[in-house]
Amino acid sequence: MDQWLAALPKTELHVHIEGTLEPELMFTLARRNGVSLPWVDVEGVRAAYRFHNLQSFLDLYYAGASVLQTEADFFQLAMAYFRRAVADGVKHCEVFFDPQTHIDRGIDIGTVIRGLARAAEAIRAESGLSVYYILCFLRHLSAESAMQTLLDALPYRRHFVGVGLDSSEVGNPPERFETVFEQARLEGLQRVAHAGEEGPPEYIWQALDLLRVARIDHGVRAEEDPQLMHRLQQEQIPLTVCPLSNLKLKGVDDLRQHNLKRLLDAGLCVTVNSDDPAYFDGYVLANYRAVAAALGLSRENLYNIARNGFVASFLPEVEKARWL
Ligand code: HPA
Ligand code: ZN
Repeated sequence: MDQWLAALPKTELHVHIEGTLEPELMFTLARRNGVSLPWVDVEGVRAAYRFHNLQSFLDLYYAGASVLQTEADFFQLAMAYFRRAVADGVKHCEVFFDPQTHIDRGIDIGTVIRGLARAAEAIRAESGLSVYYILCFLRHLSAESAMQTLLDALPYRRHFVGVGLDSSEVGNPPERFETVFEQARLEGLQRVAHAGEEGPPEYIWQALDLLRVARIDHGVRAEEDPQLMHRLQQEQIPLTVCPLSNLKLKGVDDLRQHNLKRLLDAGLCVTVNSDDPAYFDGYVLANYRAVAAALGLSRENLYNIARNGFVASFLPEVEKARWL
């Protein structure tokens, strides 16, 4: 089963590039760039990774990202993630990046995007992995800041396929970002949003109806609303579920309580992803293994989950067909 699972062709549709920053690289970049960190060493960082909710994680995640300064840093970060993804059997990934986390520290958006884009090209040449980027707006910031970020990114339009919405969910409903998502749509960009991770089903409705998203990131709280479940099933709107993330951020106390199997059994298009693997103790294959063990998933379940990843991706139909 283990080897079979490793070899199974997979996608990763929910991973934040800043969340792939391993403590070792964090310290290397901190030294290189003269950035001081609130931890003395790698062990100190790992010891701090005990989260009780999304916000307690985000505080550390933004602190860690402060070491990223140059185009070479973003390139190195992305290459390290891509090589791990390839080793996990990932054939195609759609990767979030958070420009506001960097712009607000005085880093030029071109520095961020050029470094990431160069890494996508390099990994494709090295291993054949295909990479799409999705620009995420931080929902704890204003809608105006999101719009400005979109405008700043438009000169680099060819390097990303869509926009997303992440950061602190509760109290920051999707409806605040309707205008910027409409602008993105008019630019021909795909749309996704984190919803129903900690927030209520109402936020998932808003993401669908107001932001016109093609996928819901997380979405696990959809289960509380039967009408919403019906819609997700009927329209086959994919959920990018991140089991180890939900465990680490205390969405569930034990993976055996995770609703992934129930969502799958209800006929939803469920995918498995890692979210912030350097912080949550596991890349995509570890997430597959963890749910397979905790929920007793069959090979057929796991095959269907992996297949859903290709179906749910933004790959052109001819590319999808290579894997389906
Ligand atoms: N949720 C919201 N924002 C995030 C996450 C997440 O899981 N990971 C990185 N930013
Ligand atoms: Zn996420």
